[in-house]
Amino acid sequence: MLAHKKILLAVTGGIAVYKSLELTRQLKKQGAEVRVVMTKSATAFIQPLSFQALSGHSVHCELLDVEAENAMGHIELARWADVFVIAPATANTLAKMAHGLADDLVSTLYLAATCPVYVAPAMNHVMWNHPAMQANLKILQNHNVNLIAPESGEQACGEVGIGRMAEPETICQRLISDLTMPQSLANLNVIITAGATREPLDPVRYLTNRSSGKMGYALALAAKKAGANVLLISGVTQLSAPKNCNFILVETAEQMHIAVFENIENCDIFIGAAAVADYRPIEIGEKKIKKNSDQITLTLEKNPDILADVAALENPPFTVGFAAETNDLEHYARDKLNRKKLNMIAANWVGREKGGFERDENALDVFWQDGKKSLTMTDKSELARQLIALIHERFHAKN
Ligand code: PMT
Repeated sequence: MLAHKKILLAVTGGIAVYKSLELTRQLKKQGAEVRVVMTKSATAFIQPLSFQALSGHSVHCELLDVEAENAMGHIELARWADVFVIAPATANTLAKMAHGLADDLVSTLYLAATCPVYVAPAMNHVMWNHPAMQANLKILQNHNVNLIAPESGEQACGEVGIGRMAEPETICQRLISDLTMPQSLANLNVIITAGATREPLDPVRYLTNRSSGKMGYALALAAKKAGANVLLISGVTQLSAPKNCNFILVETAEQMHIAVFENIENCDIFIGAAAVADYRPIEIGEKKIKKNSDQITLTLEKNPDILADVAALENPPFTVGFAAETNDLEHYARDKLNRKKLNMIAANWVGREKGGFERDENALDVFWQDGKKSLTMTDKSELARQLIALIHERFHAKN
């Protein structure tokens, strides 16, 4: 149920506008209060009056409308909302949002909104796959915009491909599951590590790995949504720090170790999602290493094992590790669970076409002493939500 949730629904111009009428009806049925804003091109498909009748509120269409501003101005409207949903979101509106343009009511509301934002794109499949569109989506995801992915199938233009707006039930269910996520981790302190560490060789080179940070950042957001006080300790990534989480940026494994141990007191749950370099060069060249010979030998020394050190504390938090494996997943994961004395370990395949490093999707096999649960392939934000729910379950079973 979405009882008393204030949902600001922006409708932009595409044939999928008709689905947003049904979406408005379903959101109202779930108990939400819905206010609708429309772009000018959306009104070419459907009259504002239809949304007014379904939402029970007048519909705002213009940025510079004296009457509408007198009733509830655009800044007030943005502040009023618990959640801002743009459905359908056209390529044009998504591009404006990604680049901070504010030349109409919807794009201006996006800049003024401080609440969670969801987009349900709708467009032709060729437009959806265009590199410019995909680059804009990446920017928006870095702004913590939640994507409700379009579906594949026959499109209004008669072509077949990905780009159809998600069905109203799917959008409604996603909002219900995110907005009514039980505050299961309320008042708990959670530390999450994410991303790859970089181990310098000389002033211009370093050793690192393929971790993008997506899995760890998604976990930070999911833990925050579950009510936790979250500290995310991250290696260098392309991602923006998640909203409302405490954040420490580090470069090396040693710096990550220090940051974790400076904050570990009072930590209830520790999740090690970072891909920490096991080894670092013994010597860091003061000057750039020159290519004077055909071969060079690097001598590496072991980095501290952050996860094992946390689990070895006298009063350790509930400690969750990750295992990135290319073979014998369960064998190696259980070995890490036992050797590092962890409460849980989430194992994923890496080096495959799907899942693991860099991808937007992943799957996890989660192990604990006397149990196991498989979380199937899905996008990392949904997977993170499922893993946080499982951690909550096991944390309370232990305490
Ligand atoms: O960041 P993404 O691109 O989204 O990819 C996600 C991921 C594949 C990086 C993530 O899901 C994952 O598997 N993270 C752990 C990667 C890893 O280093 O696994 P490992 O099996 O080498 O390490 C086992 C555990 O020990 C991990 O929890 C790791 O954080 C921890 N560790 C390892 C070495 C070390 N010196 N200190 C540690 O804390």
